[in-house]
Amino acid sequence: MNNNVRISKDNDVAVITIDNPPVNALSPGVPEGISAAIDEMNSDPSIKAAVVIGAGRTFVAGADIKEFIKMTSSGARRATLLPLLLHIEDSGKPVIMAIHGNAFGGGLELAMAGHYRVAASTAQVGQPEVNLGIIPGAGGTQRLPRLIGVAKAVQMCAEGKPISAREAAALGLIDRLIDGDLLEGAVAFAREVAGKPAPKTRERNEKLGTAAENAPIFAAARDTARKKQRGLKAPLVAIDAVEAGIGLPFDQGCQAEAKLFTECLFSDQSKALIHVFFGEREVAKIPDVPKETPVIPVNRAAVVGSGTMGGGIAMVFANAGIPVVLKDVDEAALDLGMGKIRKNYASSVQRGRFTQEFVDERLRLITPVLTYDEFSRVDMVVEAVFEGMALKKTVFAGLDRACRRGAILASNTSTLNIDEIASATSRPEAVIGTHFFSPANVMRLLEIVRGKKSSKEVVATCMQLSKKLGKIGVLVGNCRGFVGNRMFGPYRREAQFLVEEGAEVAAVDQALVEFGNAMGPLATGDLAGLDVGWRIRKEYRHLEKPGIRQPFAEDRLCEMGRYGQKTVRGWYLYDENRRASTDPEVSALVRKWSADAGIAQRQISAAEIVDRCIYALVNEGARILEEGYALRAVDIDIIYLNGYGFPAYRGGPMWYADTVGLQSVYRRICEFHQQHGELWAPAPLLQQLAETGKTFAEFDKEHVAAA
Ligand code: 3HC
Ligand code: NAI
Repeated sequence: MNNNVRISKDNDVAVITIDNPPVNALSPGVPEGISAAIDEMNSDPSIKAAVVIGAGRTFVAGADIKEFIKMTSSGARRATLLPLLLHIEDSGKPVIMAIHGNAFGGGLELAMAGHYRVAASTAQVGQPEVNLGIIPGAGGTQRLPRLIGVAKAVQMCAEGKPISAREAAALGLIDRLIDGDLLEGAVAFAREVAGKPAPKTRERNEKLGTAAENAPIFAAARDTARKKQRGLKAPLVAIDAVEAGIGLPFDQGCQAEAKLFTECLFSDQSKALIHVFFGEREVAKIPDVPKETPVIPVNRAAVVGSGTMGGGIAMVFANAGIPVVLKDVDEAALDLGMGKIRKNYASSVQRGRFTQEFVDERLRLITPVLTYDEFSRVDMVVEAVFEGMALKKTVFAGLDRACRRGAILASNTSTLNIDEIASATSRPEAVIGTHFFSPANVMRLLEIVRGKKSSKEVVATCMQLSKKLGKIGVLVGNCRGFVGNRMFGPYRREAQFLVEEGAEVAAVDQALVEFGNAMGPLATGDLAGLDVGWRIRKEYRHLEKPGIRQPFAEDRLCEMGRYGQKTVRGWYLYDENRRASTDPEVSALVRKWSADAGIAQRQISAAEIVDRCIYALVNEGARILEEGYALRAVDIDIIYLNGYGFPAYRGGPMWYADTVGLQSVYRRICEFHQQHGELWAPAPLLQQLAETGKTFAEFDKEHVAAA
């Protein structure tokens, strides 16, 4: 028998176990093993039925995604799962799929080819392929509507979100939920159905509905996909595949699906999203902090400062079930902070995200305090007081006195030097940056800033903790702005330059929204508050090199009190619902300021707007990479996707540059260098990669191999 699939007997029931760690992906060999096991049980007269179950933590997480990379890079087509699934369905004896953990993608497709499905109530099932830029490719778009109806099947295939086993049972996708031992329950179920005619999913047409009933379902699904998954092609293709199958015999429906699947798989969007899938897992791997590094259990936490960030961070701990004390300077500040937390939770209940019971429980985990008394009991503190070195140092000196040895002292600073903050303590090895993004309870990104002396245990703990907190932790070095904000500077600088050179404010934002970004750079400035950058620029003005062009429009807007949304005026005008409209006064002012500064005005295309802004990110990203402040190009990509609304289907700025071709990107940057001067000096690493015909992805591979 195949190494990854084994067959055993429980008296008259065969047990086929898929054992391909870590997630039982259907890698080469596994489908063949299942097929052989089905043959074996069919040829054994003492066997009446079979149970298929996964070893380890899950049923089957889907096709092996690594195989897709091999296929698209070599162009070679590989065997599909379709024949195996027909083989199972045609088995003369019933096959019961026993699901725990996940039945995702090809895993759910496999399960649907069984005659029955039983599941642990904690299991999840789904067709998440669209998240990889593809669609179900082994009959998922054809069998799922037959089991749960067209509307729900379209939703699951197009949105890619899993559902719980309970919901699946209510929909008819799962035949029985099993509490207690899954295998035992599945075998008992198999005995109940043995000898009876076994239903084949592909022959069940009763839930398919008529064309007239289905038309509005497809139309609504397309509308939703265009709005909620803007720019992504796979959801629309998944809807096409379900629709194609409804009017066709099953096998032709599968052929239509297979054709659409292959088109998606070979697309740039799918390659980018697969890069993101592995990238999100790659960032957790730190070459000099191996998996075995001991971690500090974080069972109790504290947050200092209950403002915008501190309140959100306290919610993050509470949501993960970790009790947290929240400290501020006085009753008034604390009441304000707790008030915001309650309001945030109330709106989550209103929107149906959390139940009142869940929220009450979380609120009980947050204890507002005014002193450090409780701090001796916590395992980790996150400081989120006002941004200012002197204050941070005072707070850290206080934490050094109040916290037990071994506790982690983290700062949420967005601009300050972690090493200098650490110097205020007697234990710099315990100090690290945990840079959450606003709103902290929503944004997935967590930049973990490694100080010179941060210990490996502290780094490993924060990386591991980020997952528990529902965040994606990316380790970055201690430079000004760290990785994300350091790159964001040149990006927003170019957006301003473009306006100063003649582009309309809305045209700049629109070009980048059409590129796929969640928001344009100028609207983002208004949202965050233009004054934030203005204050930082004033503080660092003495570091600017003389003679180098600096943008001025935002500073002037700030001087006029136009800080953005908070003052209802910034780049745009805002109504009481924070809806933006363009402001002719801003256009006129910028034209005048530009004329005074002698900046020639010209028509600027959307393509140039995108190149200027996105290549500014890429060029700075390349510097960061070369200087070692990011471990890999993919780390930069993951930061931009999760913290800055960069479109996942473009894979992140560095992957996007690879897709365009580094020679072209480099040439364009050289043009900008000539036209706009020093700020556009190409990063040496970019030049080197372009000249040697390499990509950032190849740089990552070589770099990791060398580490
Ligand atoms: N193929 C190859 N490797 C996979 C994989 C897959 N389908 N799913 C997970 N892995 C790998 C991960 O890369 C990771 O490897 P690493 O340890 O070397 O970094 C390891 O398995 C463990 O994965 P996670 O860290 O993600 O483990 P979790 O326990 O956090 O999550 C999971 C488990 C929920 C199953 C999650 O891995 C997941 O969502 N996997 C992908 C599911 C998916 O998209 N399936 C559809 C595949 S496409 C398909 O099936 C097409 C079909 O229609 C023909
Ligand atoms: P904020 O002004 O909303 O809140 C700061 C809070 O700290 C206030 O409640 C204040 O009373 C409290 N505080 C001040 N001194 C204190 C002390 N000695 N002890 C206890 N509490 C004290 O500030 P915000 O925006 O939450 O920022 C906090 C930190 O997070 C800053 O370092 C900032 O740079 C960083 N940050 C902010 C982001 C944002 O978007 N606002 C994003 C990422 C990081």
